[in-house]
Amino acid sequence: MQTYFLDDQTFAQFRAYIYDLTGIDYTESKRYLLDTRVRRRARETNMDDGPSYLNFLQTSAENQSEIDLLIDQVSTHETSFFRHTNQIAIFEKIIDEIIDERRMAGNKRIKIWSAACSTGEEPYTLAMVVREKLGGETGWDISIEGTDISSGSIAQARRGRFSERNVRSTPEPYLSKYFRQDKDPRFYTLTPDMANSVKFEAISLIDNAQTNARRDFDIVFCRNVLIYFDDVAKKKVLEMLWKSLVPGGHLVLGTSDSLHGLTDSFQRTQHSVFNFFLRAPDSTVPNTAAAATQGTTPTARAVEAAPSLPPPSALDNSQSLQLKILIERLDRGIRDLSEDLNNSLGKTIDAVSTVTTTLETLVQNENLDPKSRAELRGADRQLMRILLFLQVGDRTQQKTEALRATLQELSDNLLGAEKEAPDLQVSITSFDKNLLPQDDEESDDEDDDGTMSQDDIDALFN
Ligand SMILES: C[S@@+](CC[C@H](N)C(=O)[O-])C[C@H]1O[C@@H](n2cnc3c(N)ncnc32)[C@H](O)[C@@H]1O
Repeated sequence: MQTYFLDDQTFAQFRAYIYDLTGIDYTESKRYLLDTRVRRRARETNMDDGPSYLNFLQTSAENQSEIDLLIDQVSTHETSFFRHTNQIAIFEKIIDEIIDERRMAGNKRIKIWSAACSTGEEPYTLAMVVREKLGGETGWDISIEGTDISSGSIAQARRGRFSERNVRSTPEPYLSKYFRQDKDPRFYTLTPDMANSVKFEAISLIDNAQTNARRDFDIVFCRNVLIYFDDVAKKKVLEMLWKSLVPGGHLVLGTSDSLHGLTDSFQRTQHSVFNFFLRAPDSTVPNTAAAATQGTTPTARAVEAAPSLPPPSALDNSQSLQLKILIERLDRGIRDLSEDLNNSLGKTIDAVSTVTTTLETLVQNENLDPKSRAELRGADRQLMRILLFLQVGDRTQQKTEALRATLQELSDNLLGAEKEAPDLQVSITSFDKNLLPQDDEESDDEDDDGTMSQDDIDALFN
């Protein structure tokens, strides 16, 4: 029977070490993943066991570059251009509004932050959208920043070269305008102008010293990173993000993220269906008290004794082949389902949102008689209800992503198991990993707050 590389005590120590560095909480259910990733780095540094590797990380003078490599290994970097198109569509609407408002005020300045931007696809997407909206109008001071804890990801973001897979959702006009296809047609490089439009920096969201100066952002995207943190780290980051926004600024979370039970600092809007929230225009301090929980200290939580579960045992040939075929089939099925859902649902939600916006404008019309105004308000409420029901479908979309994430984990374990079983005849590493989503566990939405609760409906309508 196969054993873990890290014994129970060393696993607990690594769990605490990673947590303190990043906020990422490797719970017992993800132990095998942490074990595989630490083992990979330990072997690369010629260490035979976990305690020696940990000692090296904590004491060696040349450890910083190895710490960076470990952080890189233990975090999930899955991202792509125009990821979650529904959210990008809402961003387009909001940026339109901000541009109009700033033009009128004669203050042509917009500040956007993509926090935890991985290899840069998200901030570059935002930069492209803003640029299209401005259509070459001069006199604007647009600042778009991308940050991530992983210095490797930031270096890659600065290089501005991306795989076919990562540009797969980019609409054609953007692809031909802002990218050049490399000689190797599987890669695309950003035009120099676009590459220079985003500033990157390697910082950690849980390090106050690194985030304190980040202020006055109109919009902050912080998608698909909080899901890896425990509640203590999530609250800390949400409070920091609140401070980083201007009053009335927008926070955009990933579709699997949730504020539920974490903070009352953010206001819901009609776009909260898509995880857009507002720092209230008149708020001066974050309101975390109501959502406070009595958390243990981060380290104490992370090192709590882990029950010892056996790791998956090494696989024989027929098992690995069957799994490989299953993974391929499942991935293809889920991908098709996901595309169908995205197409039909996205369009319907967009159409309904547009009608509600029009209704809301009509209701403001001063010449409207009270009866018509009441009727329009009634219709608007009905449509908002419809939007909430459509959101259930949007959740289904998230579930399909969660399934794909599980597949990724399965694939990771399979490859790990193969490395542990040199007597395997069939090389499963030859399996085309591109068929799978890369290292993406992020729809692991155990915190799904079921936004259809009565509280949420009340919050929307009252
Ligand atoms: C899945 S990617 C999200 C990329 C992008 N926001 C998106 O949704 O497409 C998560 C990123 O969070 C970064 N990350 C993890 N912990 C972090 C921390 N404490 N501070 C900053 N970034 C962190 C990882 O390095 C990784 O690149």
